Amino acid sequence: MTEQLDVATSVKLQLSNGRTIPALGLGTIPPDDNPGSVKDQVIAAVKEGYRHIDTAWYYGSEKYIGEALKELFDEGVVKREDLFITTKVWPSFWHSPEKSLDISLKDLGIDYVDLFLQHWPIALHGNDNGQPTTPKNADGSLVYDDDPVNGTKYIETYHKMEDILDNNLKVKSIGVSNFSIHKLEQFLPEVRSYKPVVNQIELHPQLPQQDLVDYCESRGIVIVAYSPLGGNGAPVLEIPLINELAKKYMVTPNEIAEAYHILNNRGVISRSANLSRIKTITRLPRLTEEELKQLYQVGVEDPKRYNCSSYGYGIGFRWWDGHSLCNL
Ligand SMILES: NC(=O)c1ccc[n+]([C@@H]2O[C@H](COP(=O)([O-])OP(=O)(O)OC[C@H]3O[C@@H](n4cnc5c(N)ncnc54)[C@H](OP(=O)(O)O)[C@@H]3O)[C@@H](O)[C@H]2O)c1
Repeated sequence: MTEQLDVATSVKLQLSNGRTIPALGLGTIPPDDNPGSVKDQVIAAVKEGYRHIDTAWYYGSEKYIGEALKELFDEGVVKREDLFITTKVWPSFWHSPEKSLDISLKDLGIDYVDLFLQHWPIALHGNDNGQPTTPKNADGSLVYDDDPVNGTKYIETYHKMEDILDNNLKVKSIGVSNFSIHKLEQFLPEVRSYKPVVNQIELHPQLPQQDLVDYCESRGIVIVAYSPLGGNGAPVLEIPLINELAKKYMVTPNEIAEAYHILNNRGVISRSANLSRIKTITRLPRLTEEELKQLYQVGVEDPKRYNCSSYGYGIGFRWWDGHSLCNL
Protein backbone atom coordinates (compact mmCIF):
# COMPACT_ATOMS: atom_id res chain seq x y z
CA MET A 1 0.00 0.00 0.00
CA THR A 2 2.95 2.37 0.36
CA GLU A 3 2.74 3.40 -3.28
CA GLN A 4 -0.67 4.96 -2.51
CA LEU A 5 0.61 7.35 0.14
CA ASP A 6 0.40 11.11 -0.33
CA VAL A 7 1.67 13.74 2.04
CA ALA A 8 -0.96 15.11 4.40
CA THR A 9 0.92 18.34 5.00
CA SER A 10 0.65 19.36 1.34
CA VAL A 11 -3.16 19.18 1.14
CA LYS A 12 -4.92 22.55 1.15
CA LEU A 13 -8.61 23.29 1.56
CA GLN A 14 -10.41 26.14 -0.14
CA LEU A 15 -11.99 28.76 2.12
CA SER A 16 -15.08 30.73 1.09
CA ASN A 17 -13.12 34.00 0.94
CA GLY A 18 -10.76 32.70 -1.75
CA ARG A 19 -7.91 31.85 0.61
CA THR A 20 -6.72 28.34 1.46
CA ILE A 21 -5.92 26.52 4.70
CA PRO A 22 -3.49 23.59 5.01
CA ALA A 23 -5.64 20.61 5.99
CA LEU A 24 -3.27 19.25 8.62
CA GLY A 25 -2.39 21.52 11.52
CA LEU A 26 -0.37 21.19 14.71
CA GLY A 27 -2.32 21.67 17.96
CA THR A 28 -0.50 23.58 20.68
CA ILE A 29 -2.32 23.04 23.97
CA PRO A 30 0.80 22.72 26.13
CA PRO A 31 1.53 19.78 28.43
CA ASP A 32 0.91 20.88 32.06
CA ASP A 33 4.31 19.73 33.22
CA ASN A 34 6.35 21.41 30.48
CA PRO A 35 4.60 24.21 28.56
CA GLY A 36 7.93 25.38 27.10
CA SER A 37 8.20 22.11 25.17
CA VAL A 38 5.74 23.56 22.65
CA LYS A 39 8.71 25.43 21.15
CA ASP A 40 10.43 22.18 20.14
CA GLN A 41 7.13 20.67 18.98
CA VAL A 42 6.58 23.57 16.57
CA ILE A 43 10.15 23.43 15.28
CA ALA A 44 9.95 19.66 14.75
CA ALA A 45 6.58 19.91 13.02
CA VAL A 46 7.56 22.73 10.66
CA LYS A 47 10.78 20.94 9.74
CA GLU A 48 8.63 17.88 8.98
CA GLY A 49 6.46 19.87 6.60
CA TYR A 50 3.62 21.17 8.77
CA ARG A 51 2.51 24.60 7.59
CA HIS A 52 -0.53 25.13 9.84
CA ILE A 53 -0.22 25.93 13.54
CA ASP A 54 -3.30 26.18 15.73
CA THR A 55 -3.08 28.16 18.93
CA ALA A 56 -5.13 30.43 21.22
CA TRP A 57 -4.52 33.24 23.69
CA TYR A 58 -6.01 30.93 26.32
CA TYR A 59 -3.48 28.12 25.81
CA GLY A 60 -0.56 30.11 27.21
CA SER A 61 1.70 28.63 24.55
CA GLU A 62 1.98 31.60 22.20
CA LYS A 63 5.27 32.93 23.57
CA TYR A 64 6.88 29.50 23.06
CA ILE A 65 5.49 29.34 19.54
CA GLY A 66 6.93 32.84 19.03
CA GLU A 67 10.37 31.57 20.08
CA ALA A 68 10.05 28.67 17.63
CA LEU A 69 8.96 30.95 14.79
CA LYS A 70 11.87 33.31 15.38
CA GLU A 71 14.30 30.41 15.19
CA LEU A 72 12.65 28.99 12.08
CA PHE A 73 12.61 32.37 10.34
CA ASP A 74 16.18 33.24 11.40
CA GLU A 75 17.47 29.89 10.13
CA GLY A 76 15.59 30.35 6.85
CA VAL A 77 13.59 27.12 7.29
CA VAL A 78 10.37 28.92 6.32
CA LYS A 79 9.16 32.46 5.77
CA ARG A 80 6.16 33.94 7.53
CA GLU A 81 4.07 33.69 4.37
CA ASP A 82 4.72 29.93 4.16
CA LEU A 83 2.81 29.34 7.39
CA PHE A 84 -0.87 29.43 8.29
CA ILE A 85 -1.28 30.50 11.91
CA THR A 86 -4.59 30.47 13.78
CA THR A 87 -5.31 32.09 17.12
CA LYS A 88 -8.53 32.59 19.08
CA VAL A 89 -10.26 35.05 21.39
CA TRP A 90 -11.39 33.50 24.69
CA PRO A 91 -14.88 34.24 26.15
CA SER A 92 -13.49 36.22 29.12
CA PHE A 93 -12.03 38.60 26.50
CA TRP A 94 -15.31 38.71 24.55
CA HIS A 95 -15.52 42.50 24.92
CA SER A 96 -12.03 43.20 23.52
CA PRO A 97 -11.03 40.80 20.74
CA GLU A 98 -8.55 43.28 19.29
CA LYS A 99 -6.71 43.57 22.60
CA SER A 100 -6.57 39.77 22.81
CA LEU A 101 -5.31 39.62 19.24
CA ASP A 102 -2.62 42.23 19.91
CA ILE A 103 -1.31 40.20 22.87
CA SER A 104 -1.29 37.06 20.71
CA LEU A 105 0.57 38.82 17.89
CA LYS A 106 3.14 40.25 20.30
CA ASP A 107 3.77 36.85 21.92
CA LEU A 108 3.89 35.09 18.57
CA GLY A 109 6.25 37.78 17.24
CA ILE A 110 4.30 38.22 14.02
CA ASP A 111 2.21 41.06 12.61
CA TYR A 112 -0.81 39.10 11.36
CA VAL A 113 -2.56 35.79 11.85
CA ASP A 114 -4.09 33.87 8.99
CA LEU A 115 -7.19 32.98 10.95
CA PHE A 116 -8.75 34.56 14.04
CA LEU A 117 -11.44 32.42 15.69
CA GLN A 118 -14.04 33.13 18.32
CA HIS A 119 -13.22 30.32 20.78
CA TRP A 120 -16.76 29.80 22.18
CA PRO A 121 -20.18 31.42 21.57
CA ILE A 122 -20.50 32.72 25.15
CA ALA A 123 -19.51 35.79 27.20
CA LEU A 124 -17.65 35.17 30.48
CA HIS A 125 -17.04 37.88 33.06
CA GLY A 126 -13.42 38.92 32.53
CA ASN A 127 -11.75 42.27 33.21
CA ASP A 128 -10.04 44.51 30.60
CA ASN A 129 -7.27 41.93 30.30
CA GLY A 130 -9.60 38.95 30.03
CA GLN A 131 -8.86 37.87 33.62
CA PRO A 132 -9.79 35.61 35.23
CA THR A 133 -10.09 33.29 32.25
CA THR A 134 -12.47 31.00 34.16
CA PRO A 135 -14.45 33.28 36.51
CA LYS A 136 -16.37 31.28 39.08
CA ASN A 137 -19.07 31.81 41.66
CA ALA A 138 -18.67 30.41 45.18
CA ASP A 139 -20.52 27.25 44.08
CA GLY A 140 -18.02 26.69 41.28
CA SER A 141 -20.36 27.74 38.48
CA LEU A 142 -19.09 30.06 35.74
CA VAL A 143 -19.69 33.82 35.98
CA TYR A 144 -21.22 34.99 32.73
CA ASP A 145 -21.77 38.47 31.33
CA ASP A 146 -24.76 37.09 29.46
CA ASP A 147 -27.17 34.19 29.55
CA PRO A 148 -25.17 31.27 28.11
CA VAL A 149 -28.24 29.65 26.59
CA ASN A 150 -30.13 32.50 24.95
CA GLY A 151 -27.81 35.50 25.26
CA THR A 152 -26.47 37.20 22.14
CA LYS A 153 -23.57 39.29 23.49
CA TYR A 154 -21.15 36.82 21.94
CA ILE A 155 -22.30 38.12 18.56
CA GLU A 156 -20.85 41.54 19.48
CA THR A 157 -17.46 39.82 19.66
CA TYR A 158 -17.83 38.60 16.11
CA HIS A 159 -18.89 42.05 14.92
CA LYS A 160 -15.69 43.45 16.43
CA MET A 161 -13.72 40.72 14.67
CA GLU A 162 -15.38 41.79 11.41
CA ASP A 163 -14.22 45.35 12.11
CA ILE A 164 -10.65 44.12 12.68
CA LEU A 165 -10.73 42.29 9.36
CA ASP A 166 -12.19 45.33 7.66
CA ASN A 167 -9.94 47.99 9.11
CA ASN A 168 -6.44 46.61 9.19
CA LEU A 169 -4.05 43.89 8.20
CA LYS A 170 -3.80 41.96 11.47
CA VAL A 171 -6.01 39.08 10.32
CA LYS A 172 -6.53 37.45 6.93
CA SER A 173 -9.70 35.52 7.77
CA ILE A 174 -12.11 35.14 10.69
CA GLY A 175 -14.14 32.19 11.90
CA VAL A 176 -15.69 30.45 14.87
CA SER A 177 -15.19 27.48 17.14
CA ASN A 178 -17.58 25.37 19.19
CA PHE A 179 -20.62 26.75 17.37
CA SER A 180 -23.52 24.27 17.31
CA ILE A 181 -26.34 24.41 14.74
CA HIS A 182 -28.44 26.17 17.39
CA LYS A 183 -25.81 28.90 17.80
CA LEU A 184 -25.11 29.18 14.06
CA GLU A 185 -28.81 29.68 13.38
CA GLN A 186 -28.90 32.48 15.94
CA PHE A 187 -25.64 34.01 14.74
CA LEU A 188 -25.37 33.68 10.94
CA PRO A 189 -28.25 36.08 10.15
CA GLU A 190 -26.44 38.70 12.28
CA VAL A 191 -23.14 38.50 10.38
CA ARG A 192 -22.51 41.88 8.76
CA SER A 193 -19.87 41.45 6.06
CA TYR A 194 -17.67 38.43 6.65
CA LYS A 195 -19.13 34.97 7.02
CA PRO A 196 -17.00 32.69 9.22
CA VAL A 197 -14.70 30.65 6.95
CA VAL A 198 -14.20 27.90 9.54
CA ASN A 199 -16.01 26.26 12.45
CA GLN A 200 -13.50 24.40 14.64
CA ILE A 201 -15.22 21.61 16.59
CA GLU A 202 -14.48 18.32 18.29
CA LEU A 203 -14.78 15.66 15.60
CA HIS A 204 -13.54 12.10 15.16
CA PRO A 205 -14.98 8.70 14.24
CA GLN A 206 -16.62 8.43 17.67
CA LEU A 207 -18.31 11.82 17.25
CA PRO A 208 -19.44 12.29 13.63
CA GLN A 209 -22.05 15.08 14.23
CA GLN A 210 -23.00 14.75 10.58
CA ASP A 211 -25.90 17.22 10.88
CA LEU A 212 -23.54 19.96 12.04
CA VAL A 213 -20.93 19.03 9.41
CA ASP A 214 -23.59 19.14 6.67
CA TYR A 215 -24.99 22.42 8.00
CA CYS A 216 -21.58 24.09 7.85
CA GLU A 217 -20.56 22.62 4.51
CA SER A 218 -23.82 23.67 2.86
CA ARG A 219 -23.02 27.23 3.96
CA GLY A 220 -19.42 27.19 2.77
CA ILE A 221 -17.96 26.93 6.28
CA VAL A 222 -14.97 24.58 6.41
CA ILE A 223 -14.92 22.21 9.37
CA VAL A 224 -11.65 21.92 11.27
CA ALA A 225 -11.63 18.91 13.60
CA TYR A 226 -10.06 19.37 17.02
CA SER A 227 -9.22 16.59 19.48
CA PRO A 228 -9.16 14.14 16.55
CA LEU A 229 -7.55 11.58 18.87
CA GLY A 230 -9.91 12.34 21.77
CA GLY A 231 -7.30 14.41 23.65
CA ASN A 232 -5.16 13.09 26.52
CA GLY A 233 -4.49 9.38 26.24
CA ALA A 234 -5.68 9.39 22.61
CA PRO A 235 -8.71 7.09 23.23
CA VAL A 236 -9.79 7.36 19.58
CA LEU A 237 -6.67 5.43 18.58
CA GLU A 238 -8.03 2.42 20.45
CA ILE A 239 -10.83 1.94 17.90
CA PRO A 240 -10.11 -1.52 16.38
CA LEU A 241 -10.97 -0.37 12.85
CA ILE A 242 -8.38 2.43 13.03
CA ASN A 243 -5.72 -0.12 13.94
CA GLU A 244 -6.82 -2.55 11.21
CA LEU A 245 -6.59 0.21 8.62
CA ALA A 246 -3.20 1.33 9.97
CA LYS A 247 -1.91 -2.21 9.42
CA LYS A 248 -3.47 -2.43 5.96
CA TYR A 249 -1.95 0.85 4.77
CA MET A 250 1.27 0.44 6.78
CA VAL A 251 0.88 3.80 8.53
CA THR A 252 0.36 4.87 12.13
CA PRO A 253 -3.12 4.91 13.69
CA ASN A 254 -2.65 8.70 13.97
CA GLU A 255 -2.45 8.95 10.20
CA ILE A 256 -5.70 7.01 9.79
CA ALA A 257 -7.41 9.34 12.30
CA GLU A 258 -6.15 12.36 10.33
CA ALA A 259 -6.96 10.90 6.91
CA TYR A 260 -10.57 10.38 8.07
CA HIS A 261 -10.96 14.18 8.02
CA ILE A 262 -8.64 15.21 5.22
CA LEU A 263 -10.21 12.80 2.73
CA ASN A 264 -13.59 14.26 3.72
CA ASN A 265 -12.33 17.78 2.90
CA ARG A 266 -12.03 18.83 6.51
CA GLY A 267 -9.11 20.29 8.39
CA VAL A 268 -7.65 18.43 11.35
CA ILE A 269 -5.39 19.58 14.17
CA SER A 270 -3.72 17.17 16.51
CA ARG A 271 -1.00 17.55 19.06
CA SER A 272 1.89 15.54 20.43
CA ALA A 273 4.63 16.32 22.90
CA ASN A 274 6.52 13.35 21.51
CA LEU A 275 8.89 14.71 18.87
CA SER A 276 9.53 11.37 17.22
CA ARG A 277 5.76 10.92 16.89
CA ILE A 278 5.40 14.32 15.22
CA LYS A 279 7.83 13.09 12.59
CA THR A 280 5.79 10.00 11.74
CA ILE A 281 2.30 11.37 11.28
CA THR A 282 2.33 13.19 7.97
CA ARG A 283 1.46 10.47 5.43
CA LEU A 284 -1.99 10.40 3.88
CA PRO A 285 -3.27 6.89 3.20
CA ARG A 286 -5.96 6.86 0.52
CA LEU A 287 -8.77 5.18 2.43
CA THR A 288 -11.63 4.00 0.25
CA GLU A 289 -15.11 5.52 0.39
CA GLU A 290 -16.28 2.31 2.05
CA GLU A 291 -13.58 2.56 4.75
CA LEU A 292 -14.47 6.20 5.41
CA LYS A 293 -18.10 5.17 5.84
CA GLN A 294 -17.10 2.38 8.21
CA LEU A 295 -15.12 4.84 10.34
CA TYR A 296 -18.09 7.22 10.37
CA GLN A 297 -20.36 4.37 11.45
CA VAL A 298 -18.34 3.82 14.66
CA GLY A 299 -19.74 6.97 16.22
CA VAL A 300 -23.21 6.67 14.73
CA GLU A 301 -23.59 3.47 16.71
CA ASP A 302 -21.80 4.58 19.87
CA PRO A 303 -21.23 8.36 20.07
CA LYS A 304 -18.69 9.70 22.54
CA ARG A 305 -17.64 13.30 23.18
CA TYR A 306 -14.39 13.82 25.07
CA ASN A 307 -14.50 17.61 25.64
CA CYS A 308 -17.43 18.28 27.95
CA SER A 309 -16.27 21.38 29.81
CA SER A 310 -18.72 23.80 31.41
CA TYR A 311 -18.17 26.29 28.59
CA GLY A 312 -20.38 24.06 26.47
CA TYR A 313 -23.33 24.28 28.82
CA GLY A 314 -26.56 24.98 26.99
CA ILE A 315 -25.02 25.92 23.65
CA GLY A 316 -26.78 23.19 21.73
CA PHE A 317 -24.40 20.26 21.34
CA ARG A 318 -25.55 16.70 21.78
CA TRP A 319 -23.77 14.20 24.01
CA TRP A 320 -22.38 16.97 26.22
CA ASP A 321 -22.00 14.87 29.37
CA GLY A 322 -22.48 16.55 32.72
CA HIS A 323 -24.78 19.18 31.28
CA SER A 324 -24.22 21.52 34.18
CA LEU A 325 -22.72 24.89 34.89
CA CYS A 326 -20.06 23.73 37.32
CA ASN A 327 -18.20 20.62 36.28
CA LEU A 328 -14.90 22.19 35.24
N1 LIG B 1 -11.27 25.08 19.73
C1 LIG B 1 -11.27 24.39 20.85
O1 LIG B 1 -12.08 24.61 21.76
C2 LIG B 1 -10.26 23.29 21.02
C3 LIG B 1 -10.43 22.33 22.04
C4 LIG B 1 -9.48 21.32 22.16
C5 LIG B 1 -8.40 21.28 21.30
N2 LIG B 1 -8.23 22.24 20.33
C6 LIG B 1 -7.05 22.22 19.42
O2 LIG B 1 -6.90 20.90 18.90
C7 LIG B 1 -5.60 20.43 19.21
C8 LIG B 1 -5.61 18.91 19.33
O3 LIG B 1 -6.56 18.45 20.25
P1 LIG B 1 -6.15 17.88 21.68
O4 LIG B 1 -5.09 18.73 22.24
O5 LIG B 1 -7.40 17.69 22.44
O6 LIG B 1 -5.50 16.48 21.42
P2 LIG B 1 -5.45 15.26 20.38
O7 LIG B 1 -4.59 15.64 19.24
O8 LIG B 1 -6.80 14.71 20.13
O9 LIG B 1 -4.66 14.20 21.30
C9 LIG B 1 -3.41 14.51 21.82
C10 LIG B 1 -3.04 13.45 22.84
O10 LIG B 1 -2.90 12.20 22.16
C11 LIG B 1 -1.67 11.60 22.57
N3 LIG B 1 -1.18 10.77 21.48
C12 LIG B 1 -0.95 11.14 20.21
N4 LIG B 1 -0.56 10.08 19.47
C13 LIG B 1 -0.54 9.02 20.31
C14 LIG B 1 -0.21 7.65 20.16
N5 LIG B 1 0.15 7.16 18.97
N6 LIG B 1 -0.30 6.84 21.23
C15 LIG B 1 -0.67 7.34 22.43
N7 LIG B 1 -0.98 8.63 22.65
C16 LIG B 1 -0.93 9.46 21.60
C17 LIG B 1 -0.75 12.75 22.85
O11 LIG B 1 0.25 12.32 23.73
P3 LIG B 1 1.79 12.66 23.44
O12 LIG B 1 1.90 14.13 23.67
O13 LIG B 1 2.51 11.82 24.41
O14 LIG B 1 2.06 12.29 21.99
C18 LIG B 1 -1.72 13.73 23.51
O15 LIG B 1 -1.86 13.44 24.88
C19 LIG B 1 -5.24 21.20 20.48
O16 LIG B 1 -3.89 21.13 20.81
C20 LIG B 1 -5.74 22.58 20.13
O17 LIG B 1 -4.84 23.23 19.27
C21 LIG B 1 -9.15 23.23 20.17
